[in-house]
Amino acid sequence: MEQSERDGLDVERIREDFPILQREFRGEQVAYLDNAATSQTPDQVVDAIAHYYRHTNANVHRGLHHLSQEASVAYEEAHDRVAEFIGAEGREEVVFGKNTTEAINTVAYAWGLAELGPGDEVVLTEMDHHATLVTWQQIAKKTGADVKFARVDDEGYLDLDHLRELVTDDTELVGVPHVSNTLGTIAPVEEIGEIAHDHGALYFVDGAQSVPHMPVDVQAMDADFFAFSGHKMCGPTGIGVLYGKEHLLEEMQPYLYGGMMIEKVTFEDSTWHELPWKFEAGTPPIAQGIALAEACDYLDDIGMERVQRHGERLAEYAHDRLSEFDDITILGPPADDRAALVSFNLDDVHAHDASEILNDYAVAVRAGDHCTQPLHDKLGVPASTRASFYVYNTKEEVDKLVAALDDARQLFA
Ligand code: ALA
Repeated sequence: MEQSERDGLDVERIREDFPILQREFRGEQVAYLDNAATSQTPDQVVDAIAHYYRHTNANVHRGLHHLSQEASVAYEEAHDRVAEFIGAEGREEVVFGKNTTEAINTVAYAWGLAELGPGDEVVLTEMDHHATLVTWQQIAKKTGADVKFARVDDEGYLDLDHLRELVTDDTELVGVPHVSNTLGTIAPVEEIGEIAHDHGALYFVDGAQSVPHMPVDVQAMDADFFAFSGHKMCGPTGIGVLYGKEHLLEEMQPYLYGGMMIEKVTFEDSTWHELPWKFEAGTPPIAQGIALAEACDYLDDIGMERVQRHGERLAEYAHDRLSEFDDITILGPPADDRAALVSFNLDDVHAHDASEILNDYAVAVRAGDHCTQPLHDKLGVPASTRASFYVYNTKEEVDKLVAALDDARQLFA
């Protein structure tokens, strides 16, 4: 019996929820190993979207008619469900937006632009995604603040001693990716939170690659802000979440203005709606928010511990199999200490060429810099090929990846 079956994760059953996994290209069934870019969407979530548009669709917080009231309640309750999923206190702390990037920009513009100035420092890490890195880099240019980057060591771990050195009483914000989308490194988020708070800095965690794959509790890690996207966790595109501690969101001014986020408007001035609506200007992602709540139900029905175990076992298996080859270099920490992804390079074969050949075998991976160009520069490679796993992936798909790479090697020999 498969280990994952003993743990109660019935992959064959789960796969039935994802008809897209039956697609074939030139007679080969797709092996979808690009889940860190976006996950597939189960029927339950697709049905929730269809049900919403068929039966409930109306704008929220605007109409007094039945449909608008129903849509408003469903949309508000979606915030409650997401709050529960990440351990937030309640809907006041959960702002819906477009994606993780928008959530990061909300913190940067609503808090950073107002609070940072010359002499202030933001401490990030060398494994941060461009969404974090570029955003704070540009906010620093506007405010005169400095951005510093905690090193990643040779094994792919965050150098905590270096981070400790960088965080001083001038540090206003410490930001880390909970899971590196390139290395698969899992950051010790609770420890880093203590370092940030010991110096009076705020603590931001990018959870784009963690919320889909492991139980997350924003209060346990004492994050002041936490961001993630729906589309990597069985939800739809077009929805991202910013968690913020209520007192911080309360103190912050909105940076997007318009309908729904206001309380009273005159020709002279305006006041803001209560949380979280103050940060949700304009017509929000209603169907997407409701479907994200369904995705939370879907994942909780499987069990997030099981989701995590399954993904990490597949990554370990992929790491072990790829390590059999002398001409493959794997990025990031050891097999048994990484999240559900493996990035690698095949000697003398550009990652784009490798991924094109894998595509001939219907193996879907991502090749490129994965929005971490400076990290790739540091590692001395222009790009890498990344296989990333989720609840519906199998060892057989990993074997298919390895067999296809074998063929790629021969083609380029
Ligand atoms: N940030 C996503 C990835 O790593 C898109 O692929």
